[in-house]
Parts: sequence; structure tokens; C-alpha cells
Amino acid sequence: MTKTYKIAVIPGDGTGPEVINEGLKVINAVSKVSGFKYETINYDFGGERYMKTGEAMPESAVEELKKADTIYLGAIGHPDVKPGILEHGILLKLRFALDQYINLRPVKLYPNVYTPLRDKGPEHIDFVVVRENTEGLYIGNGGFFKKGTPDEVATQIMLNTRKGVERCIRYAYEYTRKRNKNKTLTLCAKTNVLTYAHDLWDRAFHEVGKADYPDIKREYAHVDATCMWMVKNPEWFDVIVTCNMFGDIITDLGAMIQGGMGIAAGGNLNPEGVSMFEPIGGSAPKYTGQGVINPLAAISAGQMLLEELGETKAAARIEKGIIKVLQNNLKSCSAGKMGYSTSQVGDLVAGYACE
Ligand code: IPM
Ligand code: MN
Repeated sequence: MTKTYKIAVIPGDGTGPEVINEGLKVINAVSKVSGFKYETINYDFGGERYMKTGEAMPESAVEELKKADTIYLGAIGHPDVKPGILEHGILLKLRFALDQYINLRPVKLYPNVYTPLRDKGPEHIDFVVVRENTEGLYIGNGGFFKKGTPDEVATQIMLNTRKGVERCIRYAYEYTRKRNKNKTLTLCAKTNVLTYAHDLWDRAFHEVGKADYPDIKREYAHVDATCMWMVKNPEWFDVIVTCNMFGDIITDLGAMIQGGMGIAAGGNLNPEGVSMFEPIGGSAPKYTGQGVINPLAAISAGQMLLEELGETKAAARIEKGIIKVLQNNLKSCSAGKMGYSTSQVGDLVAGYACE
């Protein structure tokens, strides 16, 4: 009997529901030709629910989501909710509670997509960022002292555990080996300033590499230099492994060079548990409900979701659909400039993916 995957769906705020609809449309189309079955369970977590009930997610959410095979998330962020509440209450909460310790963010420029980098094409922009996703500056450990006074002190601790760093680094080595491109893993850190935290990263990186991944070439780049090379010579990168905060920053830069937020996707992975896939752009409130937002990032997150479930052929179909719609149809990847509506883009990708 074929397995029926349980996909928990959190459409979320703003344009989240619109793009998730298109992603599900494409997943549904390829499920028919690839012969897998799935059911979806919808969760209404987001700004609207928070304003109605005062809670971002119910207490039971985490335990329920643990029973799903995977999670498909649209976007979190509402203009009427104070910044931080929904991010901490939903997105970060799930990353931490489900121990999704990897944030996997491919940076791949497809043919016919505009990049602001002059003289760079798809042959130059194709690398993957492995961002640590449950530690670093994101743990919420800090506080105020004498808040609001001239003597105010604020702290925010960057916590790194050997275990957390090492499992991320091991994942990155394995991924580099499997990707089998240049077999090069670059550690992006700031060892010249963060002489404790990133010394730990540096030691773990080289120890693990020397002992268990002699076939993988090791490179190091400070985070500021990484930004420079991403713009000047993105072709130098194969896989980059980095801490939570730096990964957050460099993947926005990555999204821009691969064609913008309309196309950048990512996965919050717990390789031993339940993972969660999302377009990495936000909820784009100003485009909500207009049918003009680009669904390709969400569709591409759907591709990553299927890949992780082991449905690699179906995932490859989705990528083929994305490449074709970019080649044949879209005028631009920006909201309102595609030449097609959100749902027309979904239809087109679904069609191409099933060819
Ligand atoms: C991202 C986002 C989140 C992050 C925010 C919304 C908390 O920017 O997924 O990159 O900082 O991780
Ligand atoms: Mn970010």
C-alpha cells in the first residue's frame, strides 16, 4: 500500500494563503502523475487569529504538528501586530520546538531570471546555504538593566553548543558530498572578532572535516568577505555553512542575486523529525488579495518538501515546471510585473510539471 503523507499547512498572513494555494495546486498535480497520496491539515495560525484570541498558536499545536510528516508554511507577519510577537510565537517557536536545526536555503539563478549582478548568469549563481537554525543569537537569552534610563544596559547572548554546531556542520558536509558539485564547503563566520563563539565553529568545522570528510575541500570566509564574494564571484561557492544570524543576513543577499523574494525558498529541517518548508519572503501586506504576488518561491518550497519526503521524481517535475514558466512566460519575478496572475502562474507550472 502506498503511504498517505500528512502535510500540515499553515498559510499564515498576508499573501501567504495565496501562494500556498498555488503550491498545493502544483503538489496535487504532480501527485497524480507520480502516484503518491497525501492529505492536508489546515492550521489558521497567524495575525488574524492572534488578534481574535490573543494567542499566536494554541498550546497543543506543537504536539499535533509532531504527528505530521511535514509542514508547509506560507508567511508570518501582520501589519497590525507588533513586530516580534508572531515571529517568536509561531515561526521561531516551531523551529525550536520541533528542533529544526538546519535552515537550508538554495541560491540558484534560473535561466531568463533577472539578477542585479552584471555579467553573471545561471552558470555562476548556484550554491546552497546551510544555516544553523536553533542557536546563536536567536535563543532569546538576554535582558535589560535600568531600562529607559541613561544607564540602560541591554544584553543578547549568542549561544553556541558543541553539539548544535557539530550537527549542523555534519549535515553540511553530508549535503556537500551528496550535491557532488565542487565538493567544497565554506565556513562563513567571524573568527577574527567572535574569538570564542566562532572559534568553536572553526574547530568543529576542521575537526569533523579532517576526520570524516577528507573528500570535501574546506574553505573559510569571514561573513563580511562572504557578502563581498557573493556579489563579486558567486561562482566560488558550492555549499556555505554558517550560524543562525549570519545565515539570516546572507540569504537575503542570496535571494536578491537569484531573482528576488518571489523565487527564494527554504526548508527548516529536522533530519530526524518533522521539517517545515516556506518561501523566505515575508507576508507582503501591500499585495495581499490582489492576485499579483509571485507564487514561485512557495512552489519551490513545495519542491523541497517533496524532495525531503523522498518523492524526488515529483520534486524534479516541479523544478522542471518552474524552469519552463520562467523560460516561456514570466516577464519578471516581481509582484505585479509577471504578466500573469498568481493563480495563472500556478496553473502554468502545474501543467509543465505534468508534461
Ligand atoms: C527568516 C526570517 C526570520 C528569521 C524572522 C521572520 C524571524 O527573517 O526566516 O529569514 O530571522 O529567521
Ligand atoms: Mn530572514
